[in-house]
Amino acid sequence: MQIIRMLRHVAVARGAVQRPLRSCWMSVLPVRCLGNSSSQIPENASFHSAASSEADPPRILITGGLGQLGVGLANLLRKRFGEENVILSDIKKPPNYVLHRGPFIYADVLDYKRLREIVVNHRITWLFHYSALLSAAGEANVPLARALNITGLHHVLDIATEYHLRLFVPSTIAAFGSTSPRNPALDLCTQRPRTIYGVSKVHMELMGEYYYYRYGLDFRCLRYPGIISADSEPGGGTTDYAVHIFHEATRRGKFECNLKANTRLPMMDVSDCLRATLEVMNAPAESLSMRTYNISAMSFTPEELAQEVRRHLPEFQITYHVDPMRQAIADSWPMNLDDSNARKDWGWRHDIDLPELVTKMLNFHRSDTRVAQTN
Ligand SMILES: NC(=O)c1ccc[n+]([C@@H]2O[C@H](COP(=O)([O-])OP(=O)(O)OC[C@H]3O[C@@H](n4cnc5c(N)ncnc54)[C@H](O)[C@@H]3O)[C@@H](O)[C@H]2O)c1
Repeated sequence: MQIIRMLRHVAVARGAVQRPLRSCWMSVLPVRCLGNSSSQIPENASFHSAASSEADPPRILITGGLGQLGVGLANLLRKRFGEENVILSDIKKPPNYVLHRGPFIYADVLDYKRLREIVVNHRITWLFHYSALLSAAGEANVPLARALNITGLHHVLDIATEYHLRLFVPSTIAAFGSTSPRNPALDLCTQRPRTIYGVSKVHMELMGEYYYYRYGLDFRCLRYPGIISADSEPGGGTTDYAVHIFHEATRRGKFECNLKANTRLPMMDVSDCLRATLEVMNAPAESLSMRTYNISAMSFTPEELAQEVRRHLPEFQITYHVDPMRQAIADSWPMNLDDSNARKDWGWRHDIDLPELVTKMLNFHRSDTRVAQTN
C-alpha cells in the first residue's frame, strides 16, 4: 500500500499520472486517477469493480467460451444470475445447443476495438477471460500462443480497467516449473516454467496483480489443476489423457496413454472447478489476501486412474506410448498444490475425489454410448 500511496501522491502533485502507451488510457486516467481530491482515489483497491446482488446481478462476458470449460461456466452463471445476463463468446461457430441456452456473440480477443464495443454495448460488469492456447497446443504454435495468451490478455486488462470490470482469468499448474516445489507447490514460490503457455500465465498473474495495485483493477485468479469433464472435449493440454481415458474405456475397453504410468499430476472435476470460480468472484474483497490462489482436489497417476476404472470395468487395459514433449512438460509440473490459503480466506473446499470422479465419468460415457448405439 505504501507504493500505491506514493504513486497517488506523485500523480496528484503533478495533476496527472504517467501515461501508459495505449491511447485508451487517455480516456481511462482522467476518470480513474486525475482527481485532485484524495477522496476520489480509493484506499480499497476493489472500489472500481461492480459488485453483484440478487437485485442487481452482474452482466457477464465469457471469452473463449466454446472450449472445454466455458459452456459449463455459462450454465452455472446463468442459473445464478439469469440467462440473459451471461454472454458466451468465441471465434468458433457455436453448436445449436449453445445457441438455445442463452446469448452467444462472436468476439476475437485480438480485436481490441470490437472487444471494447461489446463491453460497452452489453453493459458488461464481470469478465471471465477463458481464451488461451493450452500447453501442448501452445508448444506447437508459439507465435499464436504468444499473441493469444499475452496480447489478448493485455487487451482484456486494459478494457477491464477502463470500464471498472471485475476480471477473472484462470491460471494453471503450468505456471510452475521444474525448479518449483513439486509436492506441494505453494501459492508463492519459484515459478520458472519452460512452455510458452506457462510463461504467459506467469505474466498474466503478475500483470493482474500489478493492475490491482496500480489501478485498483478487481483482478481475481485461480490456478486450476488438470480439469476433467464428461461432456466437453479438452483443448490440447498435457492432462487431456485423464479425459480421453473414459471415452476409450467405455467404447473400446482399452486406452493408450501418452504419459508414463507413474506421472503424478493434480486434477479436479469440472463441477468443483467452476464452483470455485464463482465462489472466488463472489467473495467479499476484504476476504482475499492475494490475487492468485492455488485450488486443489485430488492427485493421481495414469496407473492409479486405470486401477480405479478397473473397479468398474475389470477387463479394461491401459498401454503406454509416451509423447516425449508432453512427458517433459508433465515432469516439470507439480504433483500437488497447496491450497490452504483458498480454504482459509474464502472457504474453498472440493467435493469430488477420485472414486466419485470415475463413477461419474463412466456413468456419463456409458449412457452416451447407449444413446449412440440406439440412434
Ligand atoms: N482445461 C483445463 O484443464 C485447464 C486447466 C488449467 C487452466 N485452464 C484455463 O482455463 C481457460 C479455459 O480453458 P479451456 O480448457 O476451456 O480451453 P480450450 O482450449 O478448450 O478453449 C479455448 C477457447 O479459446 C478460443 N479462442 C482461440 N482464439 C481466440 C481468440 N482470438 N479470441 C477468442 N477466443 C479464442 C478457442 O476457440 C477455444 O474455444 C484457459 O485460460 C486455460 O488456460 C484450463
